[in-house]
Amino acid sequence: MLKEVITVSLGERSYPIYIGSGLIGEAGELFGFNGRALILTDSGVPTEYSRAVARAFAGRSEIFTVKEGEGSKSLSTLEEVLCAAANMKLTRKDAIIAVGGGVVGDLGGFAAACYMRGIAFYNIPTTVLSMVDSSIGGKTAVNLGGIKNIVGAFHQPRGVLIDTDTLKTLDERQISAGLCEAVKMAATLDREELERLESAGGIGEITADITRVISRAICLKKAVVEKDERESGLRKVLNFGHTLGHGIEAEAKGALYHGECVALGMLPFCSESVRERLLPLLKRLGLPTEYGGDIELAAELAAHDKKSVGGAVEAVFVNEIGSFEIKALPFGELLTLARAAYK
Ligand code: GLY
Repeated sequence: MLKEVITVSLGERSYPIYIGSGLIGEAGELFGFNGRALILTDSGVPTEYSRAVARAFAGRSEIFTVKEGEGSKSLSTLEEVLCAAANMKLTRKDAIIAVGGGVVGDLGGFAAACYMRGIAFYNIPTTVLSMVDSSIGGKTAVNLGGIKNIVGAFHQPRGVLIDTDTLKTLDERQISAGLCEAVKMAATLDREELERLESAGGIGEITADITRVISRAICLKKAVVEKDERESGLRKVLNFGHTLGHGIEAEAKGALYHGECVALGMLPFCSESVRERLLPLLKRLGLPTEYGGDIELAAELAAHDKKSVGGAVEAVFVNEIGSFEIKALPFGELLTLARAAYK
């Protein structure tokens, strides 16, 4: 049942986001797309989802499955996807449809941006993280040389379909990790939403309200992207928690989910009063607040992030819930803040 349609308004690059339950089999009608499609998924996504999309595009689609995990956001996997598109003889009238989490969304979006200098891309996110954040806004990329998202393009999807039934196959840890991006958006942009998340008893209560939580996070992100599609200013707010978070993610080598790294990455960049509010919320959501890894190495890796310029990294600070400040932070200070936050 279709519950909501949110439109991201970007002139000729505008697109709808369909939200509801049991929608995946309706991808054909909802997207209203008549061409052929390469359906990209990964080995961790239940096959029933990509098969349902293939049935919706019967006789004009093929499924291509990459290995689950961040390792698939690589140039070599990108080449495999592009070869699959070429073997299918996709043309400029055709599309790539990603079915899965942030990895296939980023990879599939970038493949669509590159193939024949750009073909249509549709996204069917099946994780909380990709529903609330990565499937919206057109950032597509792969990693290179240990640097996350260093090779990529802005390529907006033509449509996004969120079938909340797909969350039933996610484990609690993945749900928690995804919710961290919703906390990020509320902490920086929406005091009332943060209060709502705080007032929920725990992950169960939030999951019961998941459609509203997803929809609110999307509306917050959409408003930012509509004002600053290419991240020349305002959109940087969405990187709250990501500066050190990316360093932690690289240091943890797959042991922590992206959202868990963002949770850890937010804490050093808050005022004391904000940290005191975020700590119990993150704990209630089952997210980590203590870091047992090598913080020196994580800070060093964060310093090599693509957003570092001239010995400093740009970091988003939250001194008061619902507001933010973007500051250039010398590498040394990044480590000092990180050490202080996890004492
Ligand atoms: N995930 C951050 C952004 O889309 O800008």
